[in-house]
Amino acid sequence: MKAVAVLPGKPNSVHLREIPQPKLNDQPHPHVTKIPEGRAVLVKTLQIGVDATDREINEALYGNAPPGGEHLVIGHESFGQVVEIGDKVTEFKVGNYVSCTVRRPGGSLFDKIGRNDITSEEVYYERGINLCHGYMTEYFVDDAEYMVHVPVKLKHLGVLSEPASVCAKALEQVFLAQQRLQVWKPKLAFVMGSGQIGLLATMMLRLRGLDVYTLATKPGPHRKSEIAEAYGAKYISTKQTSLHDLAKKVGRPDIIFECTGNAEACFRSMEVLNLNGALVWTSITGGSHKVEIDAAKINLEWVLGNKLLVSSVNGNRSHFEQGIQALSHGELTYPGVTERILTNPVDGLDNYKEMMRLLVEDKDALKVFVNVSQ
Ligand code: BGC
Ligand code: ZN
Repeated sequence: MKAVAVLPGKPNSVHLREIPQPKLNDQPHPHVTKIPEGRAVLVKTLQIGVDATDREINEALYGNAPPGGEHLVIGHESFGQVVEIGDKVTEFKVGNYVSCTVRRPGGSLFDKIGRNDITSEEVYYERGINLCHGYMTEYFVDDAEYMVHVPVKLKHLGVLSEPASVCAKALEQVFLAQQRLQVWKPKLAFVMGSGQIGLLATMMLRLRGLDVYTLATKPGPHRKSEIAEAYGAKYISTKQTSLHDLAKKVGRPDIIFECTGNAEACFRSMEVLNLNGALVWTSITGGSHKVEIDAAKINLEWVLGNKLLVSSVNGNRSHFEQGIQALSHGELTYPGVTERILTNPVDGLDNYKEMMRLLVEDKDALKVFVNVSQ
């Protein structure tokens, strides 16, 4: 069967290759973890999304092949349909729609209790990213433990399950951490960035009843500003209103959700957070980027204001469930809005070059994804 892969370490190596079609009893990552007897699920891939991580993997900035091979099958944002199940799988039936988590457990205590998303080991195993093959193939097999139901009525948004899990986890972490305050009723949120994560975070914060400002550079109106506004948020171009001016005008935010991918924005966000507020960082910033900040001022304000910085990456199955619930709730509350994120479908794995071109060159592409099969 067909698969889209890279040769980690070699820039622009994305290619189509032929790999064996998986069978129900295969072990996809025996170097990490084994599927227990009877618990495998074989999935036909329907759609696979790509994001900046895939671009960086193709630029050889990120990612490693599984041991013993040179290639890494990419794709970590999965959506598919169950075609075969092991005899000990009770939670799925043939025909169900599913998404699959990304990270597999290493050896730490957190991994052992199902929290591989917060592994305390340096090396982590992620399908399509690091040391485990991904989903950009016609079929894949994995442990039922890592699969999550996508309701039939949500199948048009199924490919957003993984990004939604990342947002859901980040917000869960904020609210869990803020229990330190005993009483905290956040009212105002700034979302820094209007990519897929920024827009989904905007939706999730609106669903929690917050007043939300979504900030990005490009002045609206355009698709991103329209989506943010359709969720009931206000879109702000930082070219027209700076972060500081906005905070002066509307108040300092109780939550800042940072997902610009720009390291300076991560630190600038620290300058405007409200007293008792929480800033959550989710950007993965490669390379080096030096900026000047007034460290004394930030430190003073943060100490006197009891402010909190939380960082968040990845999502385990409970975050996928929360993400899919939020997508469902969002669809009922703002019908038809979220599908506007799905801007750039690419038909068939054969068109992997066009997929990578859109990801690299098209600055307006909000979500590039591959329609693998019907
Ligand atoms: C993925 C996460 C992953 C992270 C780090 C992101 O693009 O969505 O699941 O943990 O990259 O590799
Ligand atoms: Zn990703």
